Amino acid sequence: MKLVFATANQNKANEIQSLIPPSIEVLTLNDIHCSEEIPETQANIEGNASQKAFYVYNKYQHNCFADDTGLEVDALDGRPGVFSARYAGESKSAEDNMSKILLEMKGISNRKARFKTIISLVINGEEKQFEGVVSGVILSQRQGEKGFGYDPIFLPDGFTMSFAEMDSSQKNKISHRAIAVNKLVEYLKNLPEK
Ligand code: IMP
Repeated sequence: MKLVFATANQNKANEIQSLIPPSIEVLTLNDIHCSEEIPETQANIEGNASQKAFYVYNKYQHNCFADDTGLEVDALDGRPGVFSARYAGESKSAEDNMSKILLEMKGISNRKARFKTIISLVINGEEKQFEGVVSGVILSQRQGEKGFGYDPIFLPDGFTMSFAEMDSSQKNKISHRAIAVNKLVEYLKNLPEK
C-alpha cells in the first residue's frame, strides 16, 4: 500500500517509513505533485488534521495521513491552539509568538499548558485519529536554544529542562508528536491488509 504523508518534508516521511512495515510505502506531497497550500480552516486541531488528510484523499485519490499540532494554555482558554503557527501574525514568527504568550501570561499563576498533536489517517475514505499530548507549564521567560516554535517557554511535567534545553533525541522520545506517531505506527503494523 502507498500512503501519502501530507508534508513536503522528506525527512519527516523517512522517519516514519523507518518505523513501519516496508509493505507500506510512505510518499510525500512532492511525490504526488501536490504543491498547492492545503487549506487549514477548521476551528480546532482535530478538524485541521482531518481537513488536510481528506483534501489529499479526495483530490489525489491516495490513502493519506496528516498531522496538526497546537499549544493549549489553560489560562488563555486553550489559545493559541489551532492558531499556534500564526498566533502573533501571518509572519509565523516563533519569537513573536513566544513574546505574545509571555506578555499575556505576565503575573498569571496558573501556567498549565499542553502540546497536542493529532494525526488523521484516511484509508479508503475511512478516518482514524491518533492523539499525542504532553502536559507542562509555560515558563516566565525563555530557557534554552534548541528545538523550534514554543520549545523555549515550555517545561514538560516531570522534567527540569525546557523542550529547548533537551537534545532532539531526548525531546523526540517524549514529545506529543512522538506519542501520536507511535500510535499511528502500531495501528499500521496491525493492519490486516497492506
Ligand atoms: P504544525 O501543525 O506542526 O505546523 O505546528 C503548528 C505550530 O505549533 C508550529 O508553527 C509551532 O509554532 C508549534 N509547534 C508544533 N510543534 C511544536 C513543538 O514540538 N515545539 C514547539 N512548538 C511546536
